[in-house]
Amino acid sequence: QKDAALAAIAAAETLDALEEQRVAALGKKGWVSLALKTLGQISPDERQQAAPAIQAIRAEVSDALAAKKDALESAALDAQLSGETLDLTLPAPQAPRGTVHPVSQVMDELAEIFADLGFAVATGPEIEDDWHNFTALNMDESHPARAMHDTFYFPDRDAEGHQMLLRTHTSPVQIRTKKEVAKANPGGAPIRIIAPGRVYRSDSDATHTPMFHQIEGLVIDRDIHLGHLKWTLETFLKAFFEREDIVLRLRPSYFPFTEPSVEVDVGFEVVKGKRVLGGSGDAPGHGWMELLGSGVVNRRVIEFAGLDPDQWQGFAFGVGVDRLAMLKYGMDDLRAFFDGDVRWLQHYGFSP
Ligand code: PHE
Repeated sequence: QKDAALAAIAAAETLDALEEQRVAALGKKGWVSLALKTLGQISPDERQQAAPAIQAIRAEVSDALAAKKDALESAALDAQLSGETLDLTLPAPQAPRGTVHPVSQVMDELAEIFADLGFAVATGPEIEDDWHNFTALNMDESHPARAMHDTFYFPDRDAEGHQMLLRTHTSPVQIRTKKEVAKANPGGAPIRIIAPGRVYRSDSDATHTPMFHQIEGLVIDRDIHLGHLKWTLETFLKAFFEREDIVLRLRPSYFPFTEPSVEVDVGFEVVKGKRVLGGSGDAPGHGWMELLGSGVVNRRVIEFAGLDPDQWQGFAFGVGVDRLAMLKYGMDDLRAFFDGDVRWLQHYGFSP
């Protein structure tokens, strides 16, 4: 029986056929297994006699099975390798080309416009502490404006015991920049920065996403007043929307970190169902839309940052970058910005 089995193993041409042989010999009901079972039924003396021979047969059969299995596997691999030759002369498949996301595009456009006006780009962390995000901006723990920010809080506090959070606006970069400047130069110095970046609020619908983008502007210099703010915003918006007829309306408002505070509306008209910026919002068929928040930097905030408010004044503004992109390029659902749908990106994206 052993010789017949060894011959059958040698003759097996496939791994399946080999497996059949293994089951026939070593499987539960295989002849080797059955022979081993009979050992239990005979006397110890007889067992001592018979066992070594059966064990030897089992070893021989299983060695033969393993050797044949190796041989069949390497033959299969050889066959596969020789069938899979690469033709290096074939043209490579076209890699799909990405596009520049409208948010990145708009941030670049803004950085360029403000660079022409003498503004540098500043950045700050997205994981902030409540001191930079609120307290130093004149919103202490009990300030009701804190509650308006729908803040994502972390359970942790930092080493100084400040509550950590996802920044709700880019205004903490104002504080960080002023502090840095005050530290580098105790007398303070003129500052002209923009701070673009991601901000987070727990809010979600067609015009709000939990993460969105803002760009903060900050100027600190001597004798700064609202006129400088208005001129800067007008110049930037005309350059950004590439229209000379952009008209702004400044409305008194309230932010704890600016005094006075102004909300800035921009005039638009409706063209083919879409709002197009340009012209006075008071003209027939026109309207005003709220675009950004701004104001003259509150004395207390200048003080908080370590500068002397009697010497230095400034203005600041914050505007939604996604909003600017939607208005300039005519998208109407903010959520699409962050869906990552390639078709949307191919339609609205910019070539690199
Ligand atoms: N940080 C304010 C907001 O997110 C906007 C703002 C910035 C207002 C700077 C005034 C000055 O609503």
